[in-house]
Amino acid sequence: MADGACPRASWGTRVVQESTRRHAVTEEGLFSDGTAKFEVPDAPGTSTLVDAGEMGPTGRPLPTFPHPAPPDPDRRMHAKIISMCNQKGGVGKTTTTINLGAALAELGFKVLLVDFDPQGSLSVGLGVNPHTLDKSIYNLLLSKQFTADEVIQETSVRDLDILPSNIDLSAAEVQLVSEVAREQTLTRVLRHLRADYDFILIDCAPSLGLLTINALTASDYVLMPLECEFFALRGIALLTDTISKVSDRLNPDLQVLGILGTMYDSRTLHAREVLERVVQAFGEDVFHTVIRRTVKFPETTVAGEPITTYASASPGADAYRQLAREVLQRCQDQ
Ligand SMILES: Nc1ncnc2c1ncn2[C@@H]1O[C@H](COP(=O)(O)OP(=O)(O)OP(=O)(O)O)[C@@H](O)[C@H]1O
Ligand SMILES: [Mg+2]
Repeated sequence: MADGACPRASWGTRVVQESTRRHAVTEEGLFSDGTAKFEVPDAPGTSTLVDAGEMGPTGRPLPTFPHPAPPDPDRRMHAKIISMCNQKGGVGKTTTTINLGAALAELGFKVLLVDFDPQGSLSVGLGVNPHTLDKSIYNLLLSKQFTADEVIQETSVRDLDILPSNIDLSAAEVQLVSEVAREQTLTRVLRHLRADYDFILIDCAPSLGLLTINALTASDYVLMPLECEFFALRGIALLTDTISKVSDRLNPDLQVLGILGTMYDSRTLHAREVLERVVQAFGEDVFHTVIRRTVKFPETTVAGEPITTYASASPGADAYRQLAREVLQRCQDQ
């Protein structure tokens, strides 16, 4: 065993507890003492020694995510569609849709955000008032009279557009029930828009009803935000079961892009333990990037803009920029 090393351990409480006893945990959730070595298991029976300073908040060595080359302006676009999905409320779906979208746009990609929640939080978070909306995604779903161009709005961020929604969308859930191929309604709406964007991000409602099934059916990937708190894993079985049913019956191309730890407070043992359990349960499906809890996020909702412009130099903005690079890497690898 290397000097200063912990006893051999799985991604475990043991590694984390040992390390917190001996070394301070920095604000970023990284271990500050770069001298100590930790034994991290990879394939069964093998392990790697890594510097404590290289460990990420998920208890795994933190890779670097390279900055992508700016996209070619003459490229032919075929948007990758990603749904942010978790039937649990308040876990960071909308916050992730807005800020991941803004971070991708900052890298030069053209991004459309789809507000697919009748609460209209995504629209509010980008400065659109849902109550005064003339046309919304509801009109595109239920009528052929409207074109997407009439509903899409530009945001204050360059290359970031939004398909807004409001409470009308709750009626769609009922009205779609009697439609033929009701689960493919959003797929039909987005089909023509794929050529205009690099990414389409869908903000789902906190339910596993027909709207969410539509979102999953229309998507290439699903990203599951998970709040780092005690009940985080409750309901995840139901969500993964729904995802596999959709992929069996409606959309064989659907892939899990990853599970994202949100509202993480590295100072509490509780949050670290929850994250550790999530990694034990889902392994490499868990993003290395973790979003920490900060009051800046609720502030951005009031300001009606993403954190990347509201507080561009903040750790929260950087976390979503890192997530964007990790998402790009995962999309390339899969
Ligand atoms: N990392 C964070 N730190 C602190 N607050 C956060 C963070 N992420 C999100 N929030 C806040 O938590 C609340 C819920 O977040 P958000 O609306 O993104 O969750 P949601 O999953 O979309 O909720 P819903 O299920 O109701 O649609 C918001 O007030 C948001 O500003
Ligand atoms: Mg939401």
